[in-house]
Amino acid sequence: MKLASRLERVKPSPSVAAAARAAALAAQGRDIISLTTGEPDFDTPRHIKDAAVQALEQGMTKYTAVEGIAALRQAVCAKFARENALRYVPDQVIVGIGVKQVIYNALMATLDAGDEVIIPAPYWVSYPDMVALAGGTPVSVPCTQASGFKLQPAQLEAAITPRTRWLILNSPSNPTGAAYSAAELRALAQVLMRYGHVWVMADDIYEHLVYGDFRFATLAQVEPALMDRTLTLNGVSKAYCMTGWRIGYGAGPRELIGAMATIQSQSITSPPAMCQAAAVEALNGPQELIAQLVARFQERRDLAVPMLNAVPGLSGHVPEGAFYLYPSCAGLIGRRTPAGKQLQNDADVVDYLVESVGVATVPGAAFGLSPHFRISYAVASEKLVEACRRIRLACEEVTC
Ligand SMILES: Cc1ncc(COP(=O)(O)O)c(C=O)c1O
Repeated sequence: MKLASRLERVKPSPSVAAAARAAALAAQGRDIISLTTGEPDFDTPRHIKDAAVQALEQGMTKYTAVEGIAALRQAVCAKFARENALRYVPDQVIVGIGVKQVIYNALMATLDAGDEVIIPAPYWVSYPDMVALAGGTPVSVPCTQASGFKLQPAQLEAAITPRTRWLILNSPSNPTGAAYSAAELRALAQVLMRYGHVWVMADDIYEHLVYGDFRFATLAQVEPALMDRTLTLNGVSKAYCMTGWRIGYGAGPRELIGAMATIQSQSITSPPAMCQAAAVEALNGPQELIAQLVARFQERRDLAVPMLNAVPGLSGHVPEGAFYLYPSCAGLIGRRTPAGKQLQNDADVVDYLVESVGVATVPGAAFGLSPHFRISYAVASEKLVEACRRIRLACEEVTC
């Protein structure tokens, strides 16, 4: 069979591949702790499930408007006004099958061959591949642990060319958990104000998962003058434990939203009706469960960070949000495992951890910044502690 040449520009998701490998090893009877998942390990709250059941009983089993049902687009506007002080009206909002598809629609609707998209690294694995699929050129800008894994204004300015169409800003971030303060966003906004041809995708999917004193902010909120070239993205997957429902949304200028709707109308038609009803309940219903979720994740972050920082060869930072850690494993590179294998890069470290102590993680190479690996702490605390203990055992065994 002849496959399309565009497939040469993309690879399957490495985090999905790492999770599949962990599952395959477990199926062979190995004792595996998988720290590869990118979704909360809690179930969708009862009242949200009930709303979906009710929607089904009431016959919400048909296609909906391409951009999503009116009630959900209104709920999205209310959410942006309430939580982010952003004033959108329903025809500035589009609902898609997860934020992932909303991002894909936006890229498909705006990129021509040679158009550039600035992606601070480490990045969510899907951004560069989605840009490439849409015919654009991903421009990765390395943001090291020393700068808190955050894009600096001078780096942004240096990366902008006449072909730049978008900057994708993800805060809190997958894979590092790093999140930009309002002041940090303002500094980036100052640069963006000088380059009117650069648009911004603010991927805020982890908005609610921030810890301690950190206060979430989003770009269009800190610099309202950027409203007319910002696509603010969010969804119900992470904060409401609804990854499988596949509902995400974006808000931005009408012309962009209209163009995205054209792509959507010729690809998926509309997001599933009953899932949209569930998302209305998530956004409009009681919000107290989010605080409980945040408390559980913060507890785990605070358990894992000191345990990992005590491991020889690893060093990490304390992330502001999300449910990921991204320790550096620079101290292990060049060392030898008990079996005599030299660890050349982060993929070798990840292989060693899964083979020797059954802890599955994702290599930093997948996220564009090495040598690191990503740990998801969306697992029960006991498992997380046991995983950290095993990582320590494995790292203590490598030699010069
Ligand atoms: C940074 C980031 N953006 C978007 C998504 C996708 O979210 P959704 O489930 O809404 O498609 C993920 C999922 O892992 C993510 O990590």
